[in-house]
Amino acid sequence: GAIGKDGYRHYMEKELHEHPLVIGQTLQRMVDPATRRVSLPDLPFNLASVPRAVITACGSAFYAGMVGRYWLEELARLPVDIDVASEMRYRDPPLTPGSLGLLISQSGETADTLAALRGLREKAIHILSVLNVEHSTMARESDTVLGTVAGPEISVASTKAFTAQLTVLACLSIATARARGKLDSLREEELVGALLDLPSRAADVFKQGDAIRTMARVVAEARDVLYLGRGSLFPVAMEGALKLKEISYIHAEAYAAGEMKHGPISLIDRSVPIVATAPSTPLFDKTLSNLQEAKARGGRLLVFTDTRGAERVGAIAEHMVVLPSVHDFVAPILQTIPVQILAYEVAVLKGTDVDQPRNLAKSVTVE
Ligand code: G6P
Repeated sequence: GAIGKDGYRHYMEKELHEHPLVIGQTLQRMVDPATRRVSLPDLPFNLASVPRAVITACGSAFYAGMVGRYWLEELARLPVDIDVASEMRYRDPPLTPGSLGLLISQSGETADTLAALRGLREKAIHILSVLNVEHSTMARESDTVLGTVAGPEISVASTKAFTAQLTVLACLSIATARARGKLDSLREEELVGALLDLPSRAADVFKQGDAIRTMARVVAEARDVLYLGRGSLFPVAMEGALKLKEISYIHAEAYAAGEMKHGPISLIDRSVPIVATAPSTPLFDKTLSNLQEAKARGGRLLVFTDTRGAERVGAIAEHMVVLPSVHDFVAPILQTIPVQILAYEVAVLKGTDVDQPRNLAKSVTVE
């Protein structure tokens, strides 16, 4: 039967509110809350001896993969190559023998991702796909499917599927780290505990609606917006910029905050608001000094931070949104939610067709 909007203005708004639920449901599949350990389906090869992973995807799923790269490299010490599928399919990268192919897709039908999967099939030891639609073409052509339990996503712009993808990738990174002897059980319990805390922290984000709408009024007036983040929060900035472009038709660009001085700093003036994702992770000080540089050049700072970062961010930001402080590991999952809400609120102010933005399709099944 048809899925309704349950009283929300748009499917996107409804699906944004499902973040806490889908993170929880996805964790239920992958985590044992009693032992606080991740359990993956049995794999016919040893994660410990995989020399490299190759990640590919399109759109938001690609940004999820970029967060996955930070986690797999940092936690599991697994080298990762990543590219958008439309490039990967023609790059034909020489693969280290035994490499793992890791595909990410909500629909499981995206033509470029499917073509990249088929290219990797011939060379990779195993195709592991993170998919929301579990009866899809990519599911059939993968060796193992890790399901995101996000339910049907109707809004063209992805929301809940993205945080579900991050949740799966976080679990995969933990399992890989354990298999490679990089994670003792105490630290695994700590990381799993941080994941299990997320659904209630995610629900808290919705208490910040007024603060996010205040930011949205500034962004809605702009022609160009610069999104900044560092480390695992850089892909969150990219996701924020993509979402804003897709549904509000405002030009947005994401930069790794430390790279700003090599170009985009020349754009900064009062007419180009800066949206930064800056919770109190180890790169907080670095990000803050990048933001100070932007402010010194007249930049208006709109900053997403957390309770631990609020005092220092509050001293420089024009507007800020303060989220609960969570473990660094899961910060990109939590911080994604408000940047997606911001794009939604800007689109509402602009009066665009939020669920069906012009020129875009939910799943792009042609090249
Ligand atoms: C389209 C959608 C994006 C989505 C991308 C990848 O371009 O507009 O929101 O991220 O496809 O889709 P997939 O189904 O492969 O995740």
